[in-house]
Amino acid sequence: MTRLSLMTSPSFVLRGLFLLGLCAFNPLPVVIEPATAAEPPAFTVSARVRALLAQMTLEEKIGQLNLQAGDKDRIGPFISKETEQAISEGRVGGILNVYGAEHTHELQRIATTQSRLKIPLLIGLDVVHGYRTIFPVPIGQAASFNPDLITRAERVAAIEATSAGINWTFGPVLDLGRDPRWGRMVETAGESPWYAAVLAEARIKGLQGERLQSSDALLACAKHFAGNGATEGGREYTASDLSLRALREAELQPFERAVKAELGCIMPAFNAVDGVPGILNQRLLQTVLRDEWHFKGLVVTDHGAIAELPRHGVAEDMSDASIGALTAGVDMDMASQAYSGSLKSAVEAGRIDVARLDAAVLRVLAAKEELGLFDNPFARSLASREQEKLDHKDHKALAVTLAGESLVLLKNENALLPLPPKGRLALIGPFATDRDNLMGPWEANGQHAKVVSIKDGFARVAPHLQLLLAQPDKEGLYGKKQIAAALQAARVADKIVLVLGEKAIDSGEASSRAFPGLLPDQMALLKAIKTLNRPFTVVLIGGRPFVEPELYTLPSAIVHAWFPGSEGGEAVARLLTGLSEPVGHMPVSVPRSVGQIPITHDKRPTGRPSLGPPEAFMSGYIDEHTTPLYPFGYGLSYTRFTYGAPVVIGASDPASRFYKIQVKVRNTGPRQGVALVQLYTRQRVAPLSQPEKQLRGFARIALQAGEEKDVLISVAREDLDFWLNDTQKAKGSGWFDIMTGPDAGETQTTRLFIPVTP
Ligand code: NOJ
Repeated sequence: MTRLSLMTSPSFVLRGLFLLGLCAFNPLPVVIEPATAAEPPAFTVSARVRALLAQMTLEEKIGQLNLQAGDKDRIGPFISKETEQAISEGRVGGILNVYGAEHTHELQRIATTQSRLKIPLLIGLDVVHGYRTIFPVPIGQAASFNPDLITRAERVAAIEATSAGINWTFGPVLDLGRDPRWGRMVETAGESPWYAAVLAEARIKGLQGERLQSSDALLACAKHFAGNGATEGGREYTASDLSLRALREAELQPFERAVKAELGCIMPAFNAVDGVPGILNQRLLQTVLRDEWHFKGLVVTDHGAIAELPRHGVAEDMSDASIGALTAGVDMDMASQAYSGSLKSAVEAGRIDVARLDAAVLRVLAAKEELGLFDNPFARSLASREQEKLDHKDHKALAVTLAGESLVLLKNENALLPLPPKGRLALIGPFATDRDNLMGPWEANGQHAKVVSIKDGFARVAPHLQLLLAQPDKEGLYGKKQIAAALQAARVADKIVLVLGEKAIDSGEASSRAFPGLLPDQMALLKAIKTLNRPFTVVLIGGRPFVEPELYTLPSAIVHAWFPGSEGGEAVARLLTGLSEPVGHMPVSVPRSVGQIPITHDKRPTGRPSLGPPEAFMSGYIDEHTTPLYPFGYGLSYTRFTYGAPVVIGASDPASRFYKIQVKVRNTGPRQGVALVQLYTRQRVAPLSQPEKQLRGFARIALQAGEEKDVLISVAREDLDFWLNDTQKAKGSGWFDIMTGPDAGETQTTRLFIPVTP
């Protein structure tokens, strides 16, 4: 990699300043790295695949680029007559939304015996947080700050899904979740680009396993490339005006890491960035993805995305749209059937470069070869393996563990929690006995009837607790009658727990909410319980932080449980009764009011900062604080920790690839617990103002009561670099603030000097 040191050449200084659009005064030395990356290992195109291409007719080539649903209206072991015929005629390269070992065996049989060239099928499904065993939703998993556990969960998801014939998942979701109004925040790792990148790698490792050839490996398809989470007003599918520099600084980080981790597939986003919808964005698909990152895998559209291009106003018709997408770098067409309908005539009319078409076909075939499908198309479709792998007790145990680590204790006045394991517990609220919503959106082949509800969880782990239930009406609502019954149960109970939140369908794709709080009946229930003047606990079910001020002031204890998954009820009951410790931390800031959105820990500084109450002519609101209600990284424990100031170990070595920061942590509370030490950085002076804090490291440490330990956190040198403009990255240098603590709102600072390295 060539580096230009602006320090050493005055002409470069001038050119650099010109590039930055800065005036002549700039005392800062800047070392620029061109935007290139080492070539990652990726799909190779073998002689077998090339030979196959040589035999293909134009129709067969186009067929390989067509990904269509087994059955348009159903997900599962279904196939329409029309799709079955298309497979046998070689007009389909992949099928989505089907599963089941026997069913997929039959589809592969049709493809490999009835079609002329006997090419096996890619079979894809959204395995977003588990297949049969449903783990907490991704934002909940992220709250665990435990990448290794997430890798293990993704491994289980892959083992289960592949046992049912799936060889491709439309995941992981690598969008950033920075707006709680946006329903798909639930699928993200939250607001930190750096942490999203850490989890991107963890997930791909788990999904793809050691080798894609293994019959328990899934081809991962990271989505939605890019800027899908940068929504306007929190609405789904909206356009955003982001420079490539801004994208590189945030949204592209997890994707770049995913490509380095040998990701096999990318799905461009529906939405337009700088006026260009994802599937037409040559800058992203070609310049960044292929030329800079050397991505050799597959690019597949989102569902029906090509057919949407005319509605974006960037294509006249389906033919125009198909030509545009293929030319921009899209290999497969999911569900538009636009390529099937229009590429043939486009080639015949000379409107498409055949080499481009061939390159796309080669990538589809190479993916199939990489998955071992040419050697054995049935390896993932064995009924005996499916039976052995689904509903496995080890998978369920892992789901309980991950769900437990995803729970965030937001409040615990007077140590109301943990609850005693005996006595009478009033368990109230729409999600107290619910089995239909705990899995959250994208439940793959999860089974509602097998979900462990919170009530079931208590019955399992605290059998001596007498549960007093007060159920909602048939619609899941609390009217006058149900609230009266809830009050009655609460009056005679020793302890009170309300399980409130949002339904699974009110979170996820196309479930944006202008009012991301609780429904009015739940607020009425909460306020009614408060009139008893007794402490009570609220457990929150949902895919976002709720923006609802009173929700946080009325209860004495609050646990954010996200959608905890198919085993979630047990994890919640274990935590509430103290059988497990709270270890989760918020991967997103919790706003005080909708007007604060977007609010994240990594905002840029302003010349007129305002921290506290409104001040004249300072940046802030006249009617609201500028800080969030709970900062990024917040999460309590049943014990207490004190944190020492950060100490830089061995700072002066300019060749260091990592800096080591040490922090003393002491457990000053009454019981054991796990502390999460977070590390944030900021380059104090740079040509572009740098965010006030950016998460750059963390470490979990278990401590007994009274115990003290030193925690060491590594910060990668390259994580301190920043993007100067669309194409140039600068080496971080000069003085840095190194900030550590239990969350982004409570940190102690030391300084680290990083010399300019040529
Ligand atoms: C649309 C969603 O945006 C995408 O994430 C998903 O993979 C496809 N539908 C297929 O279900």
